Amino acid sequence: MKEMILQTKVAVCTYDELQTADREVVDAARAATANSYAVYSNFNVGAAVRLSNGTIVSGSNQENAAYPSGLCAERTTLFWANSQYPNEAVETLAIAARTAQGELEMPIPPCGACRQVILETEKRFGNTIRIILYGAKQCYIIEDGIKALLPLSFDSAFLE
Ligand code: THU
Repeated sequence: MKEMILQTKVAVCTYDELQTADREVVDAARAATANSYAVYSNFNVGAAVRLSNGTIVSGSNQENAAYPSGLCAERTTLFWANSQYPNEAVETLAIAARTAQGELEMPIPPCGACRQVILETEKRFGNTIRIILYGAKQCYIIEDGIKALLPLSFDSAFLE
């Protein structure tokens, strides 16, 4: 029997070590946590994307009393960005979170459903999305795009 080993490369750095352009997207995600509607979880998530025309768009998680009707910050942001700028590729995605205690020290990764939407966004525009996960103590940068976070993924190729 053969084995496949699927590896994920993550660059670890502090906020201060981020490039200026990345810090801008991260700051937009951090600021977006203030607009989160998280009255049930009290877990405020913000996301932001830099598009191929340089525009930065942000969003936050929006919860609902019917829990599954709510939406994560990442999907809110990607759907908003893609609906407003359908021809602009998403180049960078940043994610940040805070609770009543303040910003999280360690980065939060996107949930499985958001990973699937990030994958579709990569396929749609034909590029890899750089993913930056912000934590007050440490940040993770995933340069290789969603394949690093969602290996063996299902996409439109299987429908052909
Ligand atoms: N949430 C996000 O917005 N993004 C993530 O990556 C993880 C979870 C939201 C969903 C829900 O509103 C709250 O955080 C708690 O799960």
